[in-house]
Amino acid sequence: MKFSIRTNKLEETGPGTLVVGLPDDKSLPAALAPLDARLDGLLARLHGDGTLRGKTETQEVVHTLGRLPCSRLVLSGLGAENELDLKRLTDWAARTAKRLRKSGVSEAAVRLPSVPGASLEQIARAAVEGFELGSREFVKYKSGNDLPRELNAIELIAIDGAEKTALDAGVATGEAVAMGMTFARELGNEPANVATPTYLADRAQEMAKASGLDCTILGPDEMAALGMGSLLGVARGSEEPARFIVVELSTGRPGPTQALVGKGLTFDSGGISIKPAARMQEMKFDMCGGAAVLGSLFALSKLRPNGKVVGLVPATENLPSGRAVKPGDILRSMSGLTIEVVNTDAEGRLILADALTYARRYKPDSVIDIATLTGAIVIALGAHAMGAMGNDEAFVEHVRAAGMRTGERVWPLPLWREYVENMRGDTADLTNSSNAGGKAITAAAFLSRFAEGMRWTHLDIAGTAWSDAEGGDRVVQGATGSGVRTMVESVLSFKG
Ligand code: BES
Ligand code: MN
Ligand code: ZN
Repeated sequence: MKFSIRTNKLEETGPGTLVVGLPDDKSLPAALAPLDARLDGLLARLHGDGTLRGKTETQEVVHTLGRLPCSRLVLSGLGAENELDLKRLTDWAARTAKRLRKSGVSEAAVRLPSVPGASLEQIARAAVEGFELGSREFVKYKSGNDLPRELNAIELIAIDGAEKTALDAGVATGEAVAMGMTFARELGNEPANVATPTYLADRAQEMAKASGLDCTILGPDEMAALGMGSLLGVARGSEEPARFIVVELSTGRPGPTQALVGKGLTFDSGGISIKPAARMQEMKFDMCGGAAVLGSLFALSKLRPNGKVVGLVPATENLPSGRAVKPGDILRSMSGLTIEVVNTDAEGRLILADALTYARRYKPDSVIDIATLTGAIVIALGAHAMGAMGNDEAFVEHVRAAGMRTGERVWPLPLWREYVENMRGDTADLTNSSNAGGKAITAAAFLSRFAEGMRWTHLDIAGTAWSDAEGGDRVVQGATGSGVRTMVESVLSFKG
């Protein structure tokens, strides 16, 4: 989508569609007064009798009958004004884009709402990210003539007195991040018979080449030579060869080295510890952490942080077969730690273990891993936040705050030593699944054994990576691009 910025008055905006956010408030917002004057008080009357409402689920179209330069005025509900923050602004922009698209609008002028406590740059960025999110739907496998139309262009009308440079910066960042999110979403939405480990590697290579990034792909033989027995253990049951994807961004400017590690499990059947059939199709999304890493590298290639950023994506399927890893099998990880596989469905931690060990060769100043790791995080936080755990409180806080600044919700859970002890094995150094509770935390505790000595935060996006229902803050269906905004902001604001 194309974004441009305008600074003219609302009553001079046209032709076509003008969109204004309407808060759920007792009085009509002051910004609408000049429009209302041209419409002989129609808006105030409609607001007074309850026809115009600012609830999030409402959007009213007012035809202006030549009284205004715009032919249609769209009032899109912002929800309660005192609850408006950057997350809700992004949700609003996504909802607005979706509704405009579904009603056949391909271009619109949109007045940027103001958000208390947020800078103009943040507002512009959050809005652009939301509009992009809402303007896309995964329809490439649908045939027919009734495919949804596209929303191609949005003109942002600045808040009165807005500074152009701040707006420009926000739009530029928003566009880069949104492109990264879209890349991640498109990979996530592909079915698992298309998005195999090889497919992910090919897309990564293509993206890297187009973005000036270095990309190296390791196959099973190279992984075996490195001793990645944990990752290869998961891959054993599958006919599709595993891939280890490495994407590097070096700006040449001095600065920290930051590693992003993403779970690229292209289909998780559970393996021999097979999952129930219900909703198993959703396990095509089990590579969304890996996709978020690739999307973040794509965005960062445009935003050029100092230092170096490395993206690592271990990619494999988890399937049962005569060759598959079995409960009780012991794997030797690249770190040397041995792992008793008690449950073959706790495979994400097995592939991340070797990826975290691989990350050591970069001597990173920080490491974030991101994964659809546990059903338990969905029980803890639902679909409204990702979980964050790590071995360095200040760094977990850095990532949490970065995420919250972008409108993604990141919530910390504790990672005390006792949880790490829960993951000791009976016959090996570690077990991949314990009977202790707190399964989102014990999964992170397992990973912590491979992150020792590195400054590390783990993000569990099992609840946020995709959405099956639409409504509330679940604005789009399918892959959401969860984590891209958080990781990009965390990388950009990390000082080492
Ligand atoms: N990919 C799943 C986690 C998951 C479940 C993500 C549901 C999204 C929705 C992961 O590999 C898994 O199966 N985890 C197990 C771990 C358990 C066996 C210790 C889980 O959470 O049940
Ligand atoms: Mn699993
Ligand atoms: Zn999984």
